[in-house]
Amino acid sequence: MKVVGFVGSPRKKGNTTAIVTEVLRGASEAGAETKIFNLNELGIRGCQACYKCQTPEGKCVQTDGMAPLYDEIFSADAIVIGTPVFMFQITGQTKTFIDRLFALLYLKDGQPGAFRNKIRGKKAVTVYSQGQPETGLFASSFDLHEGVLGFLGFKVEGRIAAGGMANLDSAKSSQDIMDKAYATGAELAK
Ligand SMILES: Cc1cc2nc3c(=O)[nH]c(=O)nc-3n(C[C@H](O)[C@H](O)[C@H](O)COP(=O)(O)O)c2cc1C
Repeated sequence: MKVVGFVGSPRKKGNTTAIVTEVLRGASEAGAETKIFNLNELGIRGCQACYKCQTPEGKCVQTDGMAPLYDEIFSADAIVIGTPVFMFQITGQTKTFIDRLFALLYLKDGQPGAFRNKIRGKKAVTVYSQGQPETGLFASSFDLHEGVLGFLGFKVEGRIAAGGMANLDSAKSSQDIMDKAYATGAELAK
């Protein structure tokens, strides 16, 4: 069992990192191999819409910080994607990463719109950290993000939405959030 975490926060010591790390700790103590990547520091360019990836064997042709992450995803049984809420939604770093996951799809017989998945059955957990205490505020945005993950072939099995994360150490100070993160990771590794 391999679980890979991706963090879309520019703050490496912030709340999103703390929560994703705790999910991975839960998974690790349940027997999984785990890894974590900070998307902000990897120099990931936007998708260039060349469509070269859109065949069953097609790979992304860009040779930037995203390139090694495809193999990490292909070899993972589950992923954890964490993002702070910026302007009601996922961060730009997270969106750029998700756009590049276009390479997890291909067009059946090259037909426009006839998308097929290169992956199937991999599990995913989402993590959101936001300043506002009310976690329902951006639920429609979270639903959309998870809809995209489903379209890409992931089975989203859990969502951790942490509200009131206004300070750098808010998550670490919240036993509830840390407990939920650990339990989610342990469950994911089953
Ligand atoms: C540019 C920017 C936009 C933000 N927009 C929102 C927002 O729309 N709603 C919200 O609740 N918090 C918002 N926040 C607060 C962050 O979501 C919050 O501090 C989060 O816990 C940061 O996560 P991190 O510690 O992992 O970086 C924003 C923060 C920044 C810097």
